[in-house]
Amino acid sequence: MPVVRFVREGREVLCPPGTNLRELALQEGVELYGLKGRLGNCGGCGQCITCFVEVVAERKEGALTPLTPVEQQKLRRRPESWRLACQALVQESVAVLTRPQAGRDAQKQAIAAAQAEPLPEGRMPEPDPEEGADDEVDSGAESDEL
Ligand code: FES
Repeated sequence: MPVVRFVREGREVLCPPGTNLRELALQEGVELYGLKGRLGNCGGCGQCITCFVEVVAERKEGALTPLTPVEQQKLRRRPESWRLACQALVQESVAVLTRPQAGRDAQKQAIAAAQAEPLPEGRMPEPDPEEGADDEVDSGAESDEL
């Protein structure tokens, strides 16, 4: 499973491939929105352009799904590394800076550190279907000892 490294928050979160980045941030309590977005956002429809994130590192190119037509229109005058979190699905491990429009200079050190540390693959071992098949079922026979 991919790992999303939230640089500003100093957190890494595992998620299944295909996870919506906005949904993941909200679920994990990561503050995605500045004041304007907190007061009112479109709920993930790609219309309010308040859910910016900056991609600062990727395990592989294309860690997030390609720009949607909405992003191509709404992000025309923004840096190429910016995305709308509500439009991006996580495919590979990625490091993102939330609210890149706010205090980015203060995050330079955190960004550099996030870029210096390789992103983990994040895959978890598949469960062995044979494992646990021979486990004894607790019959409670030993529970008579008190
Ligand atoms: S939540 Fe409105 S554009 Fe992403």
